[in-house]
Amino acid sequence: MFTRQLLRNNALFRVNLRKFSTQNTPKPTKSKAVPLAFLTFTGLGAASYFYYQQSDSKPTFLKKPLNYQEVYNKIADILEDVDYDDGSYGPVFLRLAWHAAGTYDLNTNTGGSNGSTMRFNPESSHGANAGLKIARDRLEQVKKEFPAITHADLWSLAGVVAIQEAGGPIIKWRPGRKDADSETACTPDGRLPDAALGQDHEDKATKELMMLPADLAFINDKKFKSFVTLYAKDEKKFFEDFAYSFQKLEELGVPFDENTKPMVLKPTF
Ligand code: HEM
Repeated sequence: MFTRQLLRNNALFRVNLRKFSTQNTPKPTKSKAVPLAFLTFTGLGAASYFYYQQSDSKPTFLKKPLNYQEVYNKIADILEDVDYDDGSYGPVFLRLAWHAAGTYDLNTNTGGSNGSTMRFNPESSHGANAGLKIARDRLEQVKKEFPAITHADLWSLAGVVAIQEAGGPIIKWRPGRKDADSETACTPDGRLPDAALGQDHEDKATKELMMLPADLAFINDKKFKSFVTLYAKDEKKFFEDFAYSFQKLEELGVPFDENTKPMVLKPTF
């Protein structure tokens, strides 16, 4: 798909950009270290005061709300790895996010990113989900550091991180997905395009990406072609439409609390 190629190209660009931007970071001098430590400790004291409350004369600790920007930053931190594929987990994180969401069925209002049902067999072994365990496993370290986030929210957020960190558009995102308890919530096979069809997506001789039937439809189908032409000329419009559609995809079938408003999370560069 075009998305895959775009993300790959941009991800490589971004890897260099990120390395470059950290090159000249000045080291903190010693004289600043003591006041900094002091501020940190007083800050911690103040923070614990805010999260501590007396109720019926029994002390209770209020749950610290999750800071999604911190979770975002942690996912961004684990995107790059020179030993994995072509150096970034971005593409596979995005594919995980969309395969979790793309199971939504309008007629029955089932599936979608709510439930993170791909944790269970049989959905984890559906042909379309081949290769996604690597993304789910990689994200476990984020789940360990922020146990309060659900797997369903984590995977969806990882898709947003992948797009934004590759220099793509800002995607509005909101939490509220819950994790299903068992495989009984799994969606039936066949709701997603089968990954097996794309196993040979690289031309062995030229190492170029081949075009899949879905890619070819972009230029052979009149309606699709008009979008290809439009987006090739106007990146702003492409970004706007992509951000709108991706947010919609990620929210299909999710019963959000009406008070949970979409948020904007900042890229790390
Ligand atoms: C009709 C819709 C689609 C079809 C037929 C399709 C097909 C495929 C196939 C066959 C692969 C290769 C899988 C493999 O390596 O075994 C792939 C990879 C990928 N797809 Fe799609 N896709 C579709 C929609 C999407 C959408 C909507 C997104 C994101 C918004 C997306 C993002 C990706 C990414 C990022 C990869 C690369 C994953 C990696 O390199 O690890 N695709 N797609």
